[in-house]
Amino acid sequence: MKICIILGTRPEIIKMSPVIRELQSRKIDFFILHTNQHYSAGMDQLFFDELHLPQPKYNLDVHDFYHGAMVGKMLIGIEPILQQEKPDWVLVEGDTNTVLAGALSASKLGIKVGHVEAGLRSYDRTMPEELNRIVADHLADALFCPTDTSVKIAIGEGIPKDKVFMTSNTIVDAVEHNLKLAQKSPFAKKYKDQEYFLLTMHRPSNVDTKLALSQAVASLESLVDALSVPIIFPVHPRTFAALKRFALIPNPAKIKLIEPVGYLEMLLMMERAKLIVTDSGGIQEEACIMHVPCITIRDNTERPETVTAGANLVVGTTPHKVLTGAKNMLEKPRIWSNPFGDGSTSIKIVEILTSTKQ
Ligand code: UD1
Ligand code: UDP
Repeated sequence: MKICIILGTRPEIIKMSPVIRELQSRKIDFFILHTNQHYSAGMDQLFFDELHLPQPKYNLDVHDFYHGAMVGKMLIGIEPILQQEKPDWVLVEGDTNTVLAGALSASKLGIKVGHVEAGLRSYDRTMPEELNRIVADHLADALFCPTDTSVKIAIGEGIPKDKVFMTSNTIVDAVEHNLKLAQKSPFAKKYKDQEYFLLTMHRPSNVDTKLALSQAVASLESLVDALSVPIIFPVHPRTFAALKRFALIPNPAKIKLIEPVGYLEMLLMMERAKLIVTDSGGIQEEACIMHVPCITIRDNTERPETVTAGANLVVGTTPHKVLTGAKNMLEKPRIWSNPFGDGSTSIKIVEILTSTKQ
């Protein structure tokens, strides 16, 4: 059996890393095809190095501002590689443009598609990710769903039950494995005695217009004023460009901007934060897994399990809701249970792949 892993962005590298480790340990033939949707060293190569991943066999060097052009160039790049390599399975992870292109290229060539982290829905079709998720799920031959909720969503949309598997989420495998490494890393003592909230924000709905971004920055500065805790903000390149473009760089005494950090540093930063404020998908899960209170600065989430567990509140970006949400989460005991599994997801996924008839 031969497997092709298609990935392109920071969260895909992180969430595929446990599957890649499992394939390596079972000596299964696989290769990585990287679209290079993310390409800056701190969003890409840093993660291959820290997570000890093999280098991609193919790099497509595709990054484009327009989604049509980006996905189109990816399709053109992926197709001849799959025709030549003839893998039995293509694995994609999550909901990015890379996932859309990977799933579409493979299924048009009759190659089986495994969708890791399938069945998520925000029910907000203005999110580019929502469209990618829907298409990838409906093209996939195996849907590796992280929770019972995502299983129900997939089956509820008419996807045959025998394609849908509840595997939990590889993010638990990644957190467990890498947190131990982080605690022995040069970052082990960093952030230990500091009091801070941790912020990440990169969704187009929050950063792509001046109106949205100025509201978010103002609300977050007021949160710092009200609770007297500063924010540390590792800034996604999309957001940094927008902060500069709209002249909205926040007051550094309130919101300290730093470059994106590697995964080991990020895990420690999250674990030691008093509160996580985010619009990231993966960070809502990690906060829940590590028992750090979280508020999500969006109007919806495709991770409702974090809210049901009591780990997360979806608050939007208005100042009042951000402050009230933060106070509510800070007052709560951190006693929720983790809905994303026990860290054996990558084993389950590889077992399903190897037991499926060729
Ligand atoms: C993409 C995904 C999003 C995911 C996020 C993870 C889609 C539609 N969006 O959003 O689902 O949550 O990745 O971080 O697939 N840039 C750099 N260097 C990089 C990467 C990006 O400078 O390494 C800048 C470029 O200006 C680029 C912009 O960020 O045009 C946006 O990058 P893009 O990959 O299009 O979208 P993300 O916002 O990163
Ligand atoms: N992350 C990181 N360094 C950072 C910011 C995020 O390692 O500076 C990790 C984070 O812990 C999570 C993943 O990147 O595992 C989330 O990526 P992102 O928020 O970009 O994407 P999303 O999950 O929203 O698709």
